[in-house]
Amino acid sequence: MLSFNTSLSPNSNAFALFVSEKYEYKDPRSILSKDTSKKVNLFLRSLKEKSQKDEISSFDISEKKKCFIIKIKAKHEKSYFEEVGGSFYTYVKSYKTINLIDIYADSLNDDKEKLCKNFSEFIFGVNLKSYTFNKYKTSKKEKIGSNVECKIVTINKKSIENNYKYYSSIKEGIFLTRDLVSEPPNILNPKTYVQEIKKLSKLGLKIKAYNEKELKKLGLNALLGVGLGSDNETYLVTIEWNGKKGSKEKPLAFVGKGVCFDTGGISLKPPRFMEEMKYDMAGSAVVVGLLKSLALRKAKINAVGVVGLVENMPGGKAQRPGDIVKSYSGKTIEILNTDAEGRLVLADALSFTEKKYKPKFIIDLATLTGAIIMSLGEEYAGLFSNDDELSENIFQSSKNVNEKVWRLPLHKNYDKLMNSTIADVQNINYVGGAGAITAAQFLQRFILNKTPWAHLDIAGMAFSKKAANLNPGGATGFGVRLLNNLVKEYYE
Ligand code: BES
Ligand code: ZN
Ligand code: ZN
Repeated sequence: MLSFNTSLSPNSNAFALFVSEKYEYKDPRSILSKDTSKKVNLFLRSLKEKSQKDEISSFDISEKKKCFIIKIKAKHEKSYFEEVGGSFYTYVKSYKTINLIDIYADSLNDDKEKLCKNFSEFIFGVNLKSYTFNKYKTSKKEKIGSNVECKIVTINKKSIENNYKYYSSIKEGIFLTRDLVSEPPNILNPKTYVQEIKKLSKLGLKIKAYNEKELKKLGLNALLGVGLGSDNETYLVTIEWNGKKGSKEKPLAFVGKGVCFDTGGISLKPPRFMEEMKYDMAGSAVVVGLLKSLALRKAKINAVGVVGLVENMPGGKAQRPGDIVKSYSGKTIEILNTDAEGRLVLADALSFTEKKYKPKFIIDLATLTGAIIMSLGEEYAGLFSNDDELSENIFQSSKNVNEKVWRLPLHKNYDKLMNSTIADVQNINYVGGAGAITAAQFLQRFILNKTPWAHLDIAGMAFSKKAANLNPGGATGFGVRLLNNLVKEYYE
């Protein structure tokens, strides 16, 4: 919810003003008092003289009030205003005492349409950065945090509210993704995850959860094999959004890896940082968050999300290295390493999605390999695709929203490395090297009908100990904005 004002509040501890690169600002209704604008002009002159490079600066307008100056570039990238919003929030937070701030939206531009769009993006950035996950803090002080309340000073309330609706639906999706990824693995297991997803049916999403009995009957044995060592039941959930009512148009399909915890199974992981493997369900959380956003903004498309939810544990019934499973596609898989479980989950989820929905395309997301972190670190997600057009669209969208992806190759020579001596395919490559690529080659074998497909390996992007401009650290929600933009720009 945005909160508005038509003039500066007497009790705020700060106000923010947008200025151009030439340090000029608009005050269309002269809401700044003579004294205030005099002080502002003096400060702006000093910034100009110093040819101050900083985007944001501030000074004390009185003992009780600060003034923040946000300098806006004339030429900028598409996601510029969001980034400025993020930087602004970080800057304001560095002043611990500020809790109520007036942001003078109308100082941004005199073109009303531009103003409302750009300002909505700015607030979107502020909100993304202000996310917190503190439900497990018991001290009141930490729970409430030192949140900053922003009041928007404008005469364009209706128009900003209308513009912001779109961004708010994306924000809600991202926050859901972040919440799900942040939950500890004793709370978010496949069953409780299903319950969370089912809550979304009130938005008009059609949700079906397949339990183990149903999955067995259907033959999703690659997925089921991963869950054998866990006491928690495995599920596959489909989430359908029918935004193009009455149309038989093929849906866009999004598939996510939802390993609620990845111990590695019998091929057990070393203890150091194993706790991070709670975020091994991030791919699925992006799919869930994306579908929430699409439903909230009533996107005029048909889409389906499919997530495989499972826990990879080393129990007495666990799958062993050496086991062979028959996947939903009919292909047999030799399990050489039980820690390469994400691809087993996706193998069945991909073939199932392709067969059941005959989608226009399938995009899967997964925290699939450590190898992608070796290649691209925490800057780019790995993109793999069998289709140049789909790949190019994803790449352009990634630039539009500054969620960066980099395409890596698929090639028959990598594919060969996944041939098993006694089954159709093996789940790891023993030659060594190209770990993210061979994982993608494995996935490609489960696209049976040449459906345009792309795989995003988000292992380096889903979670970060460091804060970034649009998130406070922890779960990032990477992928929701990217895929929402893809839908909006190319398929809606
Ligand atoms: N969940 C991991 C991948 C991962 C690693 C995600 C680090 C996020 C951070 C995946 O299931 C895995 O264990 N992959 C193995 C594959 C290997 C056994 C071929 C890996 O990358 O080491
Ligand atoms: Zn693993
Ligand atoms: Zn995993």
